[in-house]
Amino acid sequence: MVAPDFNELNPDASPQAAYGARLRSLREAGGLKRSWPNARTSPRQAAGAVVVTRPPLRHEYRMSNIAREEAMGSSDNTASPTGGTAETSSVRAVNTDAIAIPEADAERLRNALVDQIRADGHARTPDVERALRTVPRHKFVPGASLEDAYANSPVPIKYDSDGTSISCASQPVVVALMLDQLQAQPGERILEIGAGTGYNAALLAHLVGDSGHVTTIDVDDDLVQGARAHLSAAGCTNVEALTRDGALGHAEGAPYDRIIATVGAHGVPRAWLDQLAPGGRLLVPQRLKGSVARSVAYEQRDGRWVSLGSEMNTFMPLRRGIADDGRRVIPLSADGTVRLQAHAGQHIDAGALSGVLGQPRTEEWTGMTVHAMESPEWMELFVSCSVPSGLIRMLFPQSAKGTLLSDDPYPSSAAAVDKGAVAYLARRLSEKKTPEGGRLWEFGVIGHGPGSDELAATVADAIRTWDRDYRGRAATFELQPLDAPAIEQRPGLFALDTPLNRIVVDWQ
Ligand SMILES: C[S@@+](CC[C@H](N)C(=O)[O-])C[C@H]1O[C@@H](n2cnc3c(N)ncnc32)[C@H](O)[C@@H]1O
Repeated sequence: MVAPDFNELNPDASPQAAYGARLRSLREAGGLKRSWPNARTSPRQAAGAVVVTRPPLRHEYRMSNIAREEAMGSSDNTASPTGGTAETSSVRAVNTDAIAIPEADAERLRNALVDQIRADGHARTPDVERALRTVPRHKFVPGASLEDAYANSPVPIKYDSDGTSISCASQPVVVALMLDQLQAQPGERILEIGAGTGYNAALLAHLVGDSGHVTTIDVDDDLVQGARAHLSAAGCTNVEALTRDGALGHAEGAPYDRIIATVGAHGVPRAWLDQLAPGGRLLVPQRLKGSVARSVAYEQRDGRWVSLGSEMNTFMPLRRGIADDGRRVIPLSADGTVRLQAHAGQHIDAGALSGVLGQPRTEEWTGMTVHAMESPEWMELFVSCSVPSGLIRMLFPQSAKGTLLSDDPYPSSAAAVDKGAVAYLARRLSEKKTPEGGRLWEFGVIGHGPGSDELAATVADAIRTWDRDYRGRAATFELQPLDAPAIEQRPGLFALDTPLNRIVVDWQ
C-alpha cells in the first residue's frame, strides 16, 4: 500500500522526447501550488473554435492536476535534460492571433474555475474574486484552447532550446493566493517582475482601478510585445509593459506601493526594497535553502524587513539578469533517470554521486507520521535549514519506484547530499492510525554511498526534532544585509546567506 496519488508527482523523465519535455515544461511552469488531494475536477467542456498551436494537451492536463492534487510534494519539476537555465531562445512563438471565442462559454468556464479556487480556500477577498471573475484569461493565452485557458493549470508559452518552459501563465490557484498575499488596493502603484502573458498584470490593474497604475517587466522583448497585445485585447489601459532585467526594478516609476515578483528569486535585489514607498509590501516567491521555496510577503517594521506571511510556492527562476538563480541536474543513477535538481551555485561533487544509487542502501525510519490531509511543508523547510546541503529536489520516473528508489519516495525537495553520499526522504504506511481510524504515513530516510548512514541519521534527527519541538508552528522570515551582525545561536533560528542578502528563518 502506498500513499494516495500525491506520490505520483515526478514526471516520467524517460527520454520520450516530446512527452518528457512537455512534462518538464509543465513542472517548471511558474507557480504550481502544492495542495492536498481534495481538488475538484477542472472544467473540461469543449470550447468552440480555437487555434491550437501545440500538441494535444491530455498529458499536460493530467500532469498539472497531479501536481496540483499531490499532497506532499513538489509542484515544480524544472529539470531539463542538461539541467541548466539556458540563455533564452524561443522555440515557440508567442501566438497572439485573434480567434473567435464564444464569450459566454469563456465566462462559464471562468466562473467554474473561480468557484473551485474559492472552494480551495483562495481568492479570499471580494476584490480578488471579482478580478478573477472579470479578467478574461483566454485573451492572455490565445494559443490555448478555452478549456486549457480555464483549467487550474499553468499554460506554458515559451521554451528554451532544451524544452524547459521559461514563460507561462501561472497556475490560477497560485495567482489567486499571491493576490491574497499582496492585498493590492484601489489607487495604488504596483510593479510586477515577470510580465509573462500579462494576465496577472491585468488582474492587478483591475484591483488598483483607474486611479492606480501597474508596471510589469519581462526580460524578453517578444514576451513583452505579447503581453502588450494581450492587455490591449483585454481592454487594460492602466498597465505599462517594459523589457528589462526585473532584478533592477524600474526606478523611473518608483516609489511603488507594492512590488510582486511572479518569478523565483533567491536573494532579494536591493532595487526592489529601495523602490518601495514607505509602508510598501514586497511579495516574492523565494528559494530559501536547497530547493525549498515559499512566496513571502515582506514589509518594513522598525527598519527591518520582516515577513507578514508565506505560502509554499515554487516558480521558475530569474534568468538573464543580475540576480539569476540557475539550476543544474546531477544524475544519481547509472542510467541517469534519477537526478537531483540543484541550484547552480551549490557545490556538489557530481562525480562522487554518479551512480550512487547502485551502492548498498541504508534506511532509518523516524516514527514521524502524517495523515492524508496534512502537509509536511514546514517539516521540509525545517529539515532543509538543519542539514548543510539543504533538501534538494529529486527527479525520478515512476519506474524508479521500488527499483532504483524505495516504493514511496517523497516527491518534493527530498534529498540531502554530503560528498559521495545521498539520503532522501521516503514514506511507508504506518501501523498507527489517527484517533478517527484514518491512515498515517511514516517518514523515513534512505541513504546510499560512503557516509550515507551518518547523513541519513542527521536527516532523521532533524525530522524528529521538528516533530517534537516545532510541529504546528509556522516560521517567520527576515531579510538582513550580508554584513549584519551574526544572529544569536539558539534552536529554531537559522541564517541562510544568499549572494544578495541573508534570510533569517525563525520558528520561535
Ligand atoms: C511564471 S512567468 C510570469 C507569469 C506572468 N505574471 C503572467 O501572468 O503570465 C515568469 C516570467 O518571469 C520572466 N523572467 C525571468 N527572468 C526575468 C528577469 N530577469 N527579469 C524579468 N522577468 C524575468 C520570464 O520570462 C517569465 O515570463
